[in-house]
Amino acid sequence: MSARLVAAGTAAGQPWSSPAPEQEQPWWRSAVVYQVYLRSFADGNGDGIGDLAGLRARLPYLSWLGVDALWINPHYPSGGADGGYDVVDYRAVDPEYGDVSDVEALVADARQLGLRVVLDVVPNHTSDRHPWFRAALADPDCPEASRYHFAPPSEEPPNNWRSLFGGPAWSRTPDGRWYLHLFAPEQPDLNWRDPVVADDFERTLRFWLDRGVSGFRVDVAYGLYKDAGLRDNPGEYSPTLFGHGPEQAMTWNQPEVHDVWRRWRSVCDEYPGTMLVGEVCLADLDEVALYSRPDEMHQSLSFRLLKSKWDTPAFADAIGSALEAFGRVGAPVSWVLGNHDKDRMVTRFGGGETGLARARAAAVLLLALPGSAYVYAGDELGLPQAHVPDEARRDPIFLRSNGARAGRDGCRVPMPWNATAGVGFSPARAAKPWLPVPAEWRQHAVSRQTRDSGSVLSLYRRALAVRAEHPALGTGEATVATDGDVLTVTCTGGGRTVRCVVNMGGESVLVRSSGQVLLESGPGVHTSARSVALPPDTAVWIAD
Ligand code: NOJ
Ligand code: CA
Repeated sequence: MSARLVAAGTAAGQPWSSPAPEQEQPWWRSAVVYQVYLRSFADGNGDGIGDLAGLRARLPYLSWLGVDALWINPHYPSGGADGGYDVVDYRAVDPEYGDVSDVEALVADARQLGLRVVLDVVPNHTSDRHPWFRAALADPDCPEASRYHFAPPSEEPPNNWRSLFGGPAWSRTPDGRWYLHLFAPEQPDLNWRDPVVADDFERTLRFWLDRGVSGFRVDVAYGLYKDAGLRDNPGEYSPTLFGHGPEQAMTWNQPEVHDVWRRWRSVCDEYPGTMLVGEVCLADLDEVALYSRPDEMHQSLSFRLLKSKWDTPAFADAIGSALEAFGRVGAPVSWVLGNHDKDRMVTRFGGGETGLARARAAAVLLLALPGSAYVYAGDELGLPQAHVPDEARRDPIFLRSNGARAGRDGCRVPMPWNATAGVGFSPARAAKPWLPVPAEWRQHAVSRQTRDSGSVLSLYRRALAVRAEHPALGTGEATVATDGDVLTVTCTGGGRTVRCVVNMGGESVLVRSSGQVLLESGPGVHTSARSVALPPDTAVWIAD
């Protein structure tokens, strides 16, 4: 085999400091959190829509897999305009998914299996069908109207703000007023300068915390407050979902928002073991990290890897800058490689066999990094982005752009559980899933992969088991280094060092090592007394 020799892990990197090992770590600092897209996970009653009963029945799968917690995308009654992120009632369950007693039963079952349940909370906007917005439409002078951003009728919208889903961020009411929606028109933005809004969300938090949930993923946590004068953003811009910067300075990241997180943190502090993880889509990771200062949210999701192409400079920068930024505020990094808003990683990394090999290597990297890891349902099966016919698409991004932007339906297609015609998503084979499942997805079914020791699923399960055994993985300190196409993350913890070495190039490399290979992401890794031969797009964990 022709291979280039690299001395992996020798370049200097930035250490990430964590609390002293003898201190007991809160669970969320190094948890592997499995993201359940509820609508697409498992259908319990045969209507083609995933639900809480279906999820409950599949909890043993998540326990078998070895994750620590699950985060469930919004389960609330919703207008259905944005996959549940347009909430009508924050203290209830959409009848499509079940009822509050199903959440309680889910939490109880999960606890029996050692799993925690984290809910999604959506404080930036409500549904246009929320009772407050309805009242505000009916009467401009009612108290509810001041809980949103309305402006009097005029020719032009009040400012140049754009919706992240395309078009202006202002729409008209039937009586000609303008109202603000930074997402779809069916998602009017709340006015957090009205104290009733904050009080009501505190009630919502307590409502679910009293039912035993272990915390919340906080939607659009960098939003909520807008520039007090609603001034124009500096210039023309076409926003996408991730990576907002100075071009949207008036819309996001207002200093007042941090007080909300301080209040929410103090609520969580009354419920030991609970946590907040914020969705903070700002480009500047130093700004993102500020949302996780010790008295704010426990974590903020780090999305840089979601946007990184498959090369060592991009990955090293994403990892190194997150370790530094979060390290400065003493928070662990919450790593994300996939979610319900982004193309599946197999497809992002090139698709086909290459994309799959890279996604496997990326998973091995993800699960080595210090901090918590967020695994999106279906990524453990190596699902690619699905082709969804235009007429079946639901995403407002697709619909509002007249198809110019593909939108997110392709990463939200139901899970294939078995290799039958209906892929086992619903109890009745004939049930029509809410988004069509490609016929070839039977090959990715859980039932097949559990029997195949070389499957992606088996790899995730093995990786999670090894991670649980080695404090160097997920906790402790890490440095990141590159040497050409080889990325090395050196993790230390519990008095041991484990290197995660990823060959991101097209040729095999030899990694100097006399250590023990704990895990390999794919076939073709050869170990000798002094080195490990690593094929292209492959990662290993080496205990030195
Ligand atoms: C972020 C969520 O992840 C996304 O799915 C949603 O469309 C927006 N926030 C608006 O709530
Ligand atoms: Ca159902």
